[in-house]
Amino acid sequence: MPTTPIDLRSDTVTKPDAAMMTAISQAEVGDDVFGEDPTVNLLESTVAALLDKEAAVFVPSGTMGNQIAVRIHTKPGDEVILEADAHILHYEGGAAAGLSGVQLHAVSGPRGILSADLIASAIRGHNDWDPRTSLVCLENTHNRAGGTITALATIHAIGDLARSKNLAFHLDGARLWNAAAATGIEERKWAAPFDTISVCLSKGLGAPVGSLLVGSQSDILRARRVRKALGGGMRQAGLLAAAGLHALQHHRSGLVVDHIKAKRLANGLSAMKCVSLDPASVETNIVMIDIVDGRSAADVLLQLESAGVRMVPFGPTRIRATTHRDVSEEDIETALERAEPILN
Ligand SMILES: Cc1ncc(COP(=O)(O)O)c(C=O)c1O
Repeated sequence: MPTTPIDLRSDTVTKPDAAMMTAISQAEVGDDVFGEDPTVNLLESTVAALLDKEAAVFVPSGTMGNQIAVRIHTKPGDEVILEADAHILHYEGGAAAGLSGVQLHAVSGPRGILSADLIASAIRGHNDWDPRTSLVCLENTHNRAGGTITALATIHAIGDLARSKNLAFHLDGARLWNAAAATGIEERKWAAPFDTISVCLSKGLGAPVGSLLVGSQSDILRARRVRKALGGGMRQAGLLAAAGLHALQHHRSGLVVDHIKAKRLANGLSAMKCVSLDPASVETNIVMIDIVDGRSAADVLLQLESAGVRMVPFGPTRIRATTHRDVSEEDIETALERAEPILN
């Protein structure tokens, strides 16, 4: 049994390095519920500027960022259009219904990609019996679809449709940084069509905690009230914000390396006979692996775990591997060597 497992379960497993710990230990802090934490204030203004929006609010998680957006853009009984594999639908504990009283209208897009036409056909009419469509959410990159990127032109077309129908438009941009790194198109351009965007610091950027919801002054003012009501008002949160600022400054450029590692992993795995995987489908740091020899994902994962490679199930025969800054290119080679007897 190898001593150090190579952990490809998620890009959320990274730990702060020494430089980040120094940034945390040197953070100037205050009570952020009074608006007095200078490091949180700096993080919020920095991210708002990066996305070219008026304001941002620091929240504990991507889930809270998304759910505050759902709350401020809807009323109970409304309907939210999103992709059928969206994080908001599958992995946020039913919060859209529980916290905002809305129903989700799931629309399947090929490889998680929606289009203006697909969304147009899901917008409800104005009869008494129709739910009121009030919000469209996209996810970019798209986690369950395998880190896919929705093209900017497609997003603009959806944004134009949303505006023409008076619908709010929110982006789950937990991995927007990866879309920017993979395409060379700046975050502000990706953010432009949306009313609100949630971005995570604790995925590929490698901060321990934290996300931001970004948008207009008036939306973020309302978001702050909802954050407090949900218990997300944090006091000396500058300790966390300092980690986020450090990550933004020093870790964004490393995302392209994560994408190279994912491609290498995909290339290696695709040559193994128990696996179905098209390496060309890997656009960012997520690799979806289909097991085609009759074994379940759970069985294969147990074998991989005992060989020192950790991944997660994403369906009965589907496994997800995610690259991140705490696995090196050498680790990827080792992971492939360890996986070979199990998958080939
Ligand atoms: C696409 C996407 N959105 C939102 C989230 C939620 O982030 P958090 O775990 O910080 O709540 C995740 C988490 O992995 C995610 O992958």
